[in-house]
Amino acid sequence: ENHSNSSIYEKKIVNVAHRGASGYAPEHTIPAYQLGEQMKGDYIEIDLQMTKDGKLIAMHDEKVDRTTNGTGLVKDLTLAEIKKLDAGSWFNEKYPQFAKTKYKGLVVPTLEEVFKKFGRQANYYIETKSPEVYPGMEKELLKVLKDYKMVDSKGRTKNVLIQSFSKESLLKVHDMNPKLPLVQLFSYKNQATISDKELESIKEYAIGVGPNFTKIDGQYVKMVRNHGLQFHPYTVNERADMKKALEWGATGLFTNYPDVFNEVIKEY
Ligand code: G3P
Ligand code: CA
Repeated sequence: ENHSNSSIYEKKIVNVAHRGASGYAPEHTIPAYQLGEQMKGDYIEIDLQMTKDGKLIAMHDEKVDRTTNGTGLVKDLTLAEIKKLDAGSWFNEKYPQFAKTKYKGLVVPTLEEVFKKFGRQANYYIETKSPEVYPGMEKELLKVLKDYKMVDSKGRTKNVLIQSFSKESLLKVHDMNPKLPLVQLFSYKNQATISDKELESIKEYAIGVGPNFTKIDGQYVKMVRNHGLQFHPYTVNERADMKKALEWGATGLFTNYPDVFNEVIKEY
């Protein structure tokens, strides 16, 4: 198979398929990730939760309720229990214009299954979600990365980025493997600013920052870029916003519509 995706090391602007091409297919399912690749997204974005029996799965919420036909917290369910759930029908009901029969009955993938399916040619942008709820999540993540040879014997990787809102979680990863490239996420409630001091402290462990697009401006991006950090805002779904992000100096962004972002990149 011919993959055209490029990592942050090869390309200036990276197109991150947010939860897969989740504008068109049920988020965090194999078809959503496949569509992300077909639409030439550079990275598959994966949010991680951990099951009762310690398996890492691709899911955004702590609860299975929104994206499956089940109920309850991931941490209270075993992988076997989660595997019985339908992770696609909700999408067909919510987005009839994009509904497909094949989405019915889709299963929640484990991180391992995603690696098995997409291999080492694909790039992965992996988020430790709610790390305070899942002690040992970082250790398990590093184990899976190693088992699937996403990191080499020296601990280096070409195709994985780790992201988190939790600085603590990123520092845990950094302590275990200082060579893994990390991105510090931010969720601002108000118009955001960032100081040289903050950026210097981020630079000690991370290679980039990812804030919510709606609360930043050109000055914020300038500050980040002046420190040589990557800048990947989320989640940018409108053409005009994508353009704005590029004009401000974003080095990539998270989008539910990787096809649209590629068109914007081409025009830019
Ligand atoms: O990881 C970047 C962005 O996805 C963060 O927001 O809630 O979609 O995981 P969320
Ligand atoms: Ca995410």
